[in-house]
Amino acid sequence: MSLSGRTRDEIQALVARFPERRSALLPALKVAQREQGWLPPETIAETADVVGVPHSAALEIAEFYTMLHTEPGPTTRVVVCAQLPCALRGAEQLIRELRSELHDRDTIEVERTSECFGACHRAPMARVDDLYYENLDGEGRKALIAELTRG
Ligand code: FES
Repeated sequence: MSLSGRTRDEIQALVARFPERRSALLPALKVAQREQGWLPPETIAETADVVGVPHSAALEIAEFYTMLHTEPGPTTRVVVCAQLPCALRGAEQLIRELRSELHDRDTIEVERTSECFGACHRAPMARVDDLYYENLDGEGRKALIAELTRG
């Protein structure tokens, strides 16, 4: 499936904001993924063409970052940071609760990552698709679970 004209325009606008085209690759791939849900090879190639870089450069980025998905998967991906600051603030308990509460939702996947989300002072952290959630202990955790179970 080809990128829509709107997505191509958004990617071109991103390219114009960076001094080097290659620097726009990560946000461009995120925009492409938002439209299609994941990044099949032809989408990675088309995104590279719009950015104006080699296909191999886009493929490297797509395969490196955990927020980019080169395989189709669930509609919603919840990724919990499990690095030390988040672990000390209850990341494993958060993962257990999310999996327990969402076990009957086959459109939602819960996973842990060793990638620090860069907001350790607000641990524990999770990313739901492109959105980051912080302070996921107590009420924050309950609110996230309620939001995810509402759909
Ligand atoms: S350790 Fe989780 S955000 Fe840094």
